[in-house]
Parts: sequence; structure tokens; C-alpha cells
Amino acid sequence: MTHTPASSAPLIDPFGRAVTYLRVSVTDRCDFRCNYCMSESMTFLPKGDLLSLEELDRVCSAFVTRGVRKLRLTGGEPLVRRGIMTLIRSLSRHLETGALDELTLTTNGSQLAKYAQELADSGIKRINVSLDTLNADKFREITRWGDFNKVMAGIDAAQAAGLKVKLNAVALAGFNEDEIVPMIQFAHGRGMDITFIEVMPLGEIETQRADQYLPLTRVRAMLMDHMTLEESSHSTGGPARYFTARETGGRIGFITPLTHNFCESCNRVRLTCTGTLYMCLGQEDAADLRKPLRESESDGPLLAAIDRAIGLKPKGHDFVIDRSTRKPAVGRHMSLTGG
Ligand code: 5AD
Ligand code: SF4
Repeated sequence: MTHTPASSAPLIDPFGRAVTYLRVSVTDRCDFRCNYCMSESMTFLPKGDLLSLEELDRVCSAFVTRGVRKLRLTGGEPLVRRGIMTLIRSLSRHLETGALDELTLTTNGSQLAKYAQELADSGIKRINVSLDTLNADKFREITRWGDFNKVMAGIDAAQAAGLKVKLNAVALAGFNEDEIVPMIQFAHGRGMDITFIEVMPLGEIETQRADQYLPLTRVRAMLMDHMTLEESSHSTGGPARYFTARETGGRIGFITPLTHNFCESCNRVRLTCTGTLYMCLGQEDAADLRKPLRESESDGPLLAAIDRAIGLKPKGHDFVIDRSTRKPAVGRHMSLTGG
């Protein structure tokens, strides 16, 4: 019988799910303060706690040797991390060797005009851009000070550089409910897919999430009056379920952590910029990878710590949003673990 050495064996969790997707929050900082994501006066991590770019590279590469096929850089806003292009260029070697299928990022678009071409030159093919409204005033309101036109210029630059752009919009009651159809038309008119996300109870914010929560079952029912949705088998390796709008030929994705739990097919774990590995977005289970990383120049202790962590991956989250549950499911904000 052949024996697979532990250092290259795939990562399988206790529920038999293979972990093939690593999301990395390269910074908890962001140049926006979306009101469902952050409080206005967020305290960010001290810079000294961050993993260096070289250390982030080492952790990502360790996961790649253990069978991770897809890396997504997130934040905060990944493109505000100093030196981010150095990390991206370095990680793209795994695309060249074929060890990695995809290197991608989720961005708020504010810095895209500057980085789009370099991203495309580094082997990035697709990116997700977060956009919750098409109205510049409402954009300023939801992000607290973001510049809509800058994000639009970023999307233009990304498409001009040949990057495939997917829009992510958080569905927010009383905010963008009336914009769902125009946003789909905008996205599909420009050859972009669009995915709607239910707001998740992550981290304390000023607003009540119960007031913001818009179930996507309601959005879908509303959409049926405007277009014909055909179920699509399309998947990007994430939790979105896709439909094709017959009228536009474009795709609409729904990420429904509240109305439909997708944990049974979860294939991912999340690394923070300080080297903490969260095994589930909605649970506290975490493992410190910074210590084993710094303990030795060889990856032995790191790989062993990754193995132990995957062995603790929980079955799923237990998100609820209702008026009697005042506390978020987990205390940390999305900007720490990056969606
Ligand atoms: N619930 C749902 N989505 C969120 N995002 C940030 N915070 C939340 C939350 N509490 C979204 C951002 C971005 C993606 C990374 O996560 O809008 O699209
Ligand atoms: Fe920044 Fe994204 Fe959070 Fe908005 S949702 S504050 S853009 S990290």
C-alpha cells in the first residue's frame, strides 16, 4: 500500500469535507465603513501584530501544498495593504505550476483603477467587487464616506484590463430593496454576474441587523414579477446558488446563510492577517498559526498546526437574526475574517 506523506495529504475535516479553498484577510483595515460591516469608530489591529507579506506567503503556500486549489485575498480592503502586489505576484507562481486553480480577490473597488492592470498581469482572472447601490448619495451613506465614482472608474479599469468582474451586493431592507432590478440590469448590461448576500450577524455595529435583514427568499419572489429565473448549475466553488435571467442571459447568485444553510458543502477556512485560522465564519473555533510559523524555518510545525486545526472544523454556523437575539453570532466583524 502506498503511503501519502502527511505533508502533501489533502485536508479532510471530521465531516468528510475536503478543504480546498483558503480565504485570507490580508488586512482588517478598510477605507470605507459600510454600516452593516463596521462601526464608525472601529479599532484596528496594531500594525505590529500583522503577519508580514513573506509570512502570509508561507502560510498560503503551505495550504497549497496541502491541496488548497483556490486562494481569495480579502480584508478589510485587500488593496489598502502596503505591498499587496508583491504578495500577489509571488503567490501567482502557484498558478504557473498548476498547483493552484485560482487566485482571486474581493475588493470594494476604491483602488482598482490603480491596480487593475497589474492584477491582470499577475494571472488574476476574476475579481469580486462589493457594490450595494447605484446611487452616489446612497453609496456615501452606506459606506459612510466612499466615493461611488471612484468605484465605477475601478470597475471600468478592471474590465478594460480583461478581468472578469462579479458584483456582490448585500441585500438591505429599506436601503437597496428597490434597486435590485436596476442593479441586475446594470451588471448584466456590462457582462457582469451579480450576487446578493443576506446580512450576517457578525460583530457589533450601531444599527440593529434585524432592521437591515432582507431575506433573499423575498427578493427572489419579487424578481419573479420582473424576469424569468432559470436555475443554473454554475458554481464558483463558493456558497452562491445561481440563476440565469432569461431576459438578459446574465447570472444572478444568492448567498443565503440565513434562509438556506449551505454548511454541508463547505470547503473553506479563513486566515486573518495576524495568522489566526477560523474554521467557520459563524463559530469561534480558531487556531493560531503565527506561533508555529515563527517557531521554525521549516514548515513542519505549521503543517502540523494546520492538520490539528482542520480536525476541529465545526459542522456549521447557527446564524439567527431576530429581535430577541440582540447579540451577534460572533463578536468579530467580517473585516477580520473577510467574508
Ligand atoms: N453580512 C453580510 N455581508 C457582509 N459583508 C460585510 N459585512 C457583512 C455582513 N455582516 C460583505 C461586504 C463584501 C463582502 C466581503 O462581505 O459587503 O461584499
Ligand atoms: Fe470595507 Fe467591505 Fe466592510 Fe465596506 S463591507 S467597510 S468595503 S470591508
